Amino acid sequence: MIKKGIILAGGTGSRMSPITKAVNKQLLPIYDKPLIFYPLSVLMLAGIRDILIIVNKGQLNQFKKILPNGNNLGIKISYAEQKTPRGLPDAFLVGKKFIGKENVALILGDNFFYGQSLTKRLQQCVKLKTGASVFLHPVKNPSLYGIASINKKNKIIKIIEKPKKHFSNLAVTGLYFFDNKVISYSENLKPSKRKEIEIVDLLNKYKNKNKLSANFISRGGAWLDTGSIEDFYNTSSFVSALENRQGLKISCLEEIALNNKWIGKKNIVNAIKFYGKCNYSQYLSTLLKI
Ligand code: G1P
Repeated sequence: MIKKGIILAGGTGSRMSPITKAVNKQLLPIYDKPLIFYPLSVLMLAGIRDILIIVNKGQLNQFKKILPNGNNLGIKISYAEQKTPRGLPDAFLVGKKFIGKENVALILGDNFFYGQSLTKRLQQCVKLKTGASVFLHPVKNPSLYGIASINKKNKIIKIIEKPKKHFSNLAVTGLYFFDNKVISYSENLKPSKRKEIEIVDLLNKYKNKNKLSANFISRGGAWLDTGSIEDFYNTSSFVSALENRQGLKISCLEEIALNNKWIGKKNIVNAIKFYGKCNYSQYLSTLLKI
């Protein structure tokens, strides 16, 4: 059972400058809540309660204001600072102590997942004992992502980062499950041309040992990108459209914690006090009546 999860919330957010000059991208709003709530909710839906958030040097206090220690969500949140963004697998070097001898999930702080069967699939993924597991989802523009091709048995046969030539439309999303070997594999990765250690090189190590499996979010599910300003606003619109139609919130952390029985109604009352008079608190107060 994977009990630990890392959210990589560093990065310079350069594609969204000047908005990201003073504020970390993951603290900017996707409709009615900070972006970081969405990846955090994915880990919580997977049943993961021990979470390390990796942030840029100097940004720790900003994050702690909104997500202090996880107590009120029935989870444990700890933080680590990354001196410079050295590539995604650096999460396992920065988080080496946190991971210890266990298996671990990694989610990128700017990834958004939504789908009916997502929770069930996540709960399957955390059962991983050895090897690694990724989620694939079709995209229109494969040259922007890590791309994988699969065979008839859904086995990954090839992965390339931002391929120039089209060979598949299946993107490797920013949600990964690894066994403990991920630490030593990451330690042995050589920096690429852009001087970063690459997630694709790490995944290829597992693939070459026949230890990489693929999951799918399903056609009705959504994996949205918040990489560019355009994608950022499209994701916001998606959340706004669904929430306003259904009256249900996407990624309301307290609701997930309550449904998981990690917290009680007293914590909801505390959360309402913490957030103050706002739309989010109003939603939380409806949870008290159930
Ligand atoms: C990173 C990964 C890429 C993955 C993507 C998912 O790309 O390198 O393999 O498909 O995240 O969001 P980046 O967003 O850093 O360009």
